[in-house]
Amino acid sequence: MNQIKDILAVKDYSGANWNEPEDDYTQTFYEQNLSQFWRPEDISMQGDLNVWHILSKEVKDAYAQNLLVLTFLDTYQGDIGMPVVARSFDEGWHQRKAVVNYMSAMENAVHAKSYSNIFMTYLKTDEINELFAWGEKNKNLQSIMAKIVGYYEKLDQYNYLRKYQISGVDFSEQEFKEVQYQAMVASVFLETCLFYSGFYYPLYFYGQGKLMQAGEIINLILRDESIHGLYIGRLAIDIYKSFTKEKQDALYLWTIDLLLSLMDDQMQLVEQVYAPVDLVHDVKVFVRYNANKALMNLGFDAYYDYEEVNPVVLNGLNTQTKTMDNFSMKGNGYQKMKSEAVSDADFIFTQEKING
Ligand SMILES: [Fe+2]
Ligand SMILES: [Fe+2]
Repeated sequence: MNQIKDILAVKDYSGANWNEPEDDYTQTFYEQNLSQFWRPEDISMQGDLNVWHILSKEVKDAYAQNLLVLTFLDTYQGDIGMPVVARSFDEGWHQRKAVVNYMSAMENAVHAKSYSNIFMTYLKTDEINELFAWGEKNKNLQSIMAKIVGYYEKLDQYNYLRKYQISGVDFSEQEFKEVQYQAMVASVFLETCLFYSGFYYPLYFYGQGKLMQAGEIINLILRDESIHGLYIGRLAIDIYKSFTKEKQDALYLWTIDLLLSLMDDQMQLVEQVYAPVDLVHDVKVFVRYNANKALMNLGFDAYYDYEEVNPVVLNGLNTQTKTMDNFSMKGNGYQKMKSEAVSDADFIFTQEKING
């Protein structure tokens, strides 16, 4: 304990100076991230209900289970994934930390919250509880979480041990960088590959002009995840370049091993969720397509052969082809909500106000 106090006492602090870019891409990601800001409550879900109510139980279950899988991934990405990556940058990297912290806030507070809003609109409370219980018991989902979060927790421990130089624990900077790199690879796989089996079904509906409000939310989330995967991938490439050729080769093999191990669980999950609605083959193609994109974000070649993705889903993905109506959707013409300052009157809750 004394040792920790001593280190804190002699530490020099520095401020974030945004007038001097830390590298040639972080401020671009900063601009892009902030320009994309949105809130779950900006999108009203009511318009979807007339379609939702006439869907079969199989379709509703598959739709809800997909959003639940996404909820778990976004929850941990916000709770630990992004925060440990932000903390792993050395003291002076204030801009990188700020961008990753910003992304971190979007994951749970906006993305996971949005799925909950969809659940609240589509499902009854006991159905929502059942759904979360399904996720907590699902072997493959739990295994995916354990693999990903395991790398985040390892980096969390290394961050702490390195920062406070705990006596009796000794590892090289090289070893720290490897752990940091591995957590970033896990993060890119989550952002750019694992999310996509869940995105498939809402996009499949969106591409056919159905459940458009939920589809709109998925498009906003997807737009965020896409720059998250790119940014963390870009940072990972910087670290990768600092390794020897021998270490790079070993880490590439480790990367493919991790991918295959995640894909094994992911494909079993796809079979469970999508078999009742007959889409297993198409979703697997889509997941492999995105696994290749994740590898490219990390600076590697595609691993899987090129396959044709269902054009309906690509239609749902392609923001250029969206047909917008003028009263409900955000789409490309997304405008930030207008807000006003709170006043004392806002905090007087009369019975009338509470009852709405
Ligand atoms: Fe997210
Ligand atoms: Fe993300």
